[in-house]
Amino acid sequence: MILSTGRLDARRTLPVTLLVIVVIGGTLLLYTRPAVLTPASRQLIKSIFPSPNLVASHEHETDKQKTNSLGSTPCKRNLSFSSVPLPLTALASVQGSGNTWVRHLLHQLTGIYTGSVYSDRQTVSRGFLGEGVRDGTVVAIKTHRVEKEHPYDRAILIIRNPYDAIFAEFNRQGSRSHVGVAPFRAYIQRWNSFTTNFQRRWLTFHEEWMTFKKPLLLIVYENLVVSLPEHLQKMAEFIKHPSLKINISCALADSTGHFRRVDKMASFKDEVLSADLVKTMNSNIKAVQKMFRKKFPKVAEAMSSWLKNARNY
Ligand SMILES: *[C@@H]1O[C@H](CO)[C@@H](O)[C@H](O)[C@H]1NC(C)=O
Ligand SMILES: *[C@@H]1O[C@H](CO)[C@@H](O)[C@H](O)[C@H]1NC(C)=O
Repeated sequence: MILSTGRLDARRTLPVTLLVIVVIGGTLLLYTRPAVLTPASRQLIKSIFPSPNLVASHEHETDKQKTNSLGSTPCKRNLSFSSVPLPLTALASVQGSGNTWVRHLLHQLTGIYTGSVYSDRQTVSRGFLGEGVRDGTVVAIKTHRVEKEHPYDRAILIIRNPYDAIFAEFNRQGSRSHVGVAPFRAYIQRWNSFTTNFQRRWLTFHEEWMTFKKPLLLIVYENLVVSLPEHLQKMAEFIKHPSLKINISCALADSTGHFRRVDKMASFKDEVLSADLVKTMNSNIKAVQKMFRKKFPKVAEAMSSWLKNARNY
């Protein structure tokens, strides 16, 4: 009797169990199923998230002592805040243009912290204790802002080929996010709005900074990479102050930012740049070129090499 009841129950519960399995299984499948992505998007995802263990990192890792370019002993300066008020120096750039690297170089150059208009906890954890500080105790103040009111006495402006900056920033944001299928998909879906915003910001940022009337040192990221000593010299002269103990060899000995990430996206960048985006970005470059022509003729001329050939799209 007990046995037959058991059999009867089993017969009754089997369909229910099967239904539950199908529902749960189906839900799981639906959830984990990769989004419908173009091959280019797939590649992009792979390059942005090369391994599940990818640690969030900035484009230029400064906290890890890798090799150093001159083969000399790494020079790690003890950083402090300036006890003597320094002129307010903006370190202005669009995102993805080497701002963090230049901050590191300034640290090594002066032994004084750089500040920032932002307070990024992750940056603090990497030893950039000047996050959020924007007074005379820091040697320069990071800003990505388009600022109508400039509270600064002088500015270091870093400019980079926007086609590189856009990928650098996308990559940085990507490596910060958690790894998983859903974020991947969400991330790729953000590409269009990301690029629309980025290109617009790139233009207005430079337009705005060209209205800055006080001393301005323009640094072209690409040039900084190829001739670091010359640029450190320029920066040193620009920021010099009686209270600063500038050491160029120290900055050179630990210029870890000099080691650029391998450009994993190089082969398919063109695939994710739409014809419209290229058109807009080229016209942005030309607009900035025009603005720079008077004050920085050499830089303006060199910007022509940034233009992408629209015929390929
Ligand atoms: C930094 O500080 C440590 C400990 O106070 C000291 O041993 C070291 O020599 C200092 N380094 C420099 C470059 O001043
Ligand atoms: C600069 O730093 C180097 C270490 O890289 C040190 O040997 C040298 O004495 C420093 N120079 C000055 C002027 O402090």
